[in-house]
Amino acid sequence: MLSFRSRLSRADVDVIRQIADSTGFFDENDVQINVDIAEDMLCRKDSCHKFILADYNGRTVAYVCYGKVSDARDGTYEICWLSTLNDYRGLGIGRRLINCLIAKLRKKGAERIYVKTDSKEQYKPTRRFYEKCGFRLQAVLPGYYDDNDNCCIYALQLVDNDCAETGREQCLAAE
Ligand SMILES: CC(C)(COP(=O)(O)OP(=O)(O)OC[C@H]1O[C@@H](n2cnc3c(N)ncnc32)[C@H](O)[C@@H]1OP(=O)(O)O)[C@@H](O)C(=O)NCCC(=O)NCCS
Repeated sequence: MLSFRSRLSRADVDVIRQIADSTGFFDENDVQINVDIAEDMLCRKDSCHKFILADYNGRTVAYVCYGKVSDARDGTYEICWLSTLNDYRGLGIGRRLINCLIAKLRKKGAERIYVKTDSKEQYKPTRRFYEKCGFRLQAVLPGYYDDNDNCCIYALQLVDNDCAETGREQCLAAE
């Protein structure tokens, strides 16, 4: 059985570390950033980040960390981190986690959700995953992560928005 929760306990911090580490996608520094965000969230009620954790048959196997984009127009959120425990990937858990996030953010009046990901071959399944979840490529920032390692910005529009389509067309034309 799969269930979702937003409340974090201290024990979850280590679980988040293990899940992030298991993917093999994140270096030590990235994993530590996930841990620091979770710890900060436990200490501060006004933390700008939030988590949703996915529990599958009593084991926490995936999480998404998200937040409001502070310098963007109202209704703009971003996915900061997302991981499924390696042995549980490809089972549909990530998709259901994203659907849970979307439902939650819709209730808060969200109009769009952004996520940044990597252009490297390793991230092809991740980009495919976001596309399958309804996200569309909006912009590419060349050399953002490293030489020949671009940042791909995806967006999920929760309301109709002509500007988004124009941005996407400009992005595709520039490729
Ligand atoms: C990206 C990630 C969170 C997806 O979670 P998941 O639980 O494996 O995803 P799901 O099983 O719900 O997959 C949903 C869709 O994405 C597609 N997908 C997932 N993994 C895939 C893969 N390795 N190759 C191709 N497509 C894939 C599936 O086809 C699926 O669509 P379908 O249900 O129509 O077949 C997970 O694979 C992961 O932790 N990846 C490594 C870390 C990462 O890239 N995080 C995001 C950083 S921005």
